[in-house]
Amino acid sequence: MLPKKARREEVFEQLESAGGLQPGNVGKVHRETGVPAADIFGVATFYSLLAEPDAGVRVCTGLTCKLAGADRLLADLETEGTPATSYSCLGRCDMAPASWDPEGDPATTEPAFSPSHPDFAIDLLAAETDTYSALRLVHDKGAEWALDEVEASGLTGRGGAGFPAHIKWRAVRGQEVTERYIVLNADEGEPGTFKDREVILRRPHLVIEGLAIAARCLEAQDIYAYVRGEFGQVKASLMAALDEARARGELDDDVRWHFVDGHGAYICGEETALLEALEGKRGMPRMKPPYPVEVGFRGKPTLIQNVESIACIPAILERGGEWFKQAGRTEPGSKLYCLSGHVERPGVYEAPMGITLRELLEQAGGVTGTIKAFSPGGASSGFLPADQIDLPMDFKSLREAGSMLGSAGVVVLNDTTDMVEAALTQAVFFEDESCGQCSPCRIGTQIVRQALERYRGGDGDALAFIREVAWGMREASICGLGQAASLPLTSAMKYFPQEFGDDNE
Ligand SMILES: Cc1cc2nc3c(=O)[nH]c(=O)nc-3n(C[C@H](O)[C@H](O)[C@H](O)COP(=O)(O)O)c2cc1C
Ligand code: SF4
Repeated sequence: MLPKKARREEVFEQLESAGGLQPGNVGKVHRETGVPAADIFGVATFYSLLAEPDAGVRVCTGLTCKLAGADRLLADLETEGTPATSYSCLGRCDMAPASWDPEGDPATTEPAFSPSHPDFAIDLLAAETDTYSALRLVHDKGAEWALDEVEASGLTGRGGAGFPAHIKWRAVRGQEVTERYIVLNADEGEPGTFKDREVILRRPHLVIEGLAIAARCLEAQDIYAYVRGEFGQVKASLMAALDEARARGELDDDVRWHFVDGHGAYICGEETALLEALEGKRGMPRMKPPYPVEVGFRGKPTLIQNVESIACIPAILERGGEWFKQAGRTEPGSKLYCLSGHVERPGVYEAPMGITLRELLEQAGGVTGTIKAFSPGGASSGFLPADQIDLPMDFKSLREAGSMLGSAGVVVLNDTTDMVEAALTQAVFFEDESCGQCSPCRIGTQIVRQALERYRGGDGDALAFIREVAWGMREASICGLGQAASLPLTSAMKYFPQEFGDDNE
């Protein structure tokens, strides 16, 4: 049991300022915070940026970066004597092969964007308007009016699950407990996804305004922004926008703002793992229910919302929920799609929800080579074959196709891609990033990776039992990571049986 006065939420800050997991630091942080040393060690080893503070240049070996020559880059750095290490994902698929030196210059981003358009809720290329007029409307018309507009808009969560926003807002607002929190999920870690990074860099005031509106409507006193640690200057961009808005007197003084760094654990994008991280613990997802709207941060009602979701709020209130709803083609709203892999102009493309990949590819200058397959929503969405590029890219259509829109990190693969290698890359990612809490995921991700390696090594029977393993992982894992981790392999086997031996069809 934790000593009563232990200051657990300070563990990250203390570990970080001490330089991560170095000899002597665990004891030092224990003496500072009162948290047991074993707990601190457990936290420090869980997060890669704390566990390996001296790893040098991180080279992303996610799927898109591998396709673009990440292994070669890593080998070249090693040959020239630059300390470098392979890294699960850096959230820079538009700059593949991506690398990042935490000690060096902050990474700059130059992806392609969809042209500015008045029907977009985010409009990444718009001049930052920062009027805060939607927040003023909430002051004038009240929280119930705002909630009605959010409901009318049909906004569904853009972090991956696609859950209706208004249900969560009303659930938090309806709690008797008055200590409430708003949490911004800016941990964007799904390989293939880099839209939230660009929303914060290009339209930070939309995010600040959306958060301020949520706090006002739900009568929350504290806003926490949890920002991916590998994103360099992104958190600073958000903080600068807050300072600017405050200096202009746009915000309510009674709300406290907190900015927290992620420390390199993909699983902390899962909302309850994120809450654990905010509380200074290992990012292990909680069992649900209870949901965060009832029992969230510090056990209090909490609204957790993705960056893109929250950034849609100002436009919804200014232009009306109905306007947003109509902006989508098959489901409400405009949507940010991230395109990477074998495309001419990797970048973030805003389009009506339900646009097809064929149309998106036209905007992105087409495929480099001939398209063979694609992942519509990051690693978790598995693979679909090229003949499905006319599917509407929305939550329902992709679910019905056995995949998912997720966070809309679309990775395109051309016909030079070896699907066994592609599935193996995703399997390595999920095994690395499994929090290890439940055995179907912890052991299942190992089995999937090992079976693929054996198959690649010439063992034609290696994949014989993989569907049963996948079934167990899907059914029995606690969170979405384990539930989706086998999909890259099973979908590749389904659509490209010739590459997996006909027996496995
Ligand atoms: C393994 C896993 C990783 C996730 N990563 C993210 C993430 O990086 N960013 C995010 O907003 N949501 C992520 N989610 C979804 C969150 O759990 C949650 O649904 C979301 O933050 C809610 O916000 P939204 O309703 O605005 O989408 C992840 C879910 C799972 C299962
Ligand atoms: S499914 Fe995987 S990541 Fe999720 S709780 Fe279980 S072990 Fe952790």
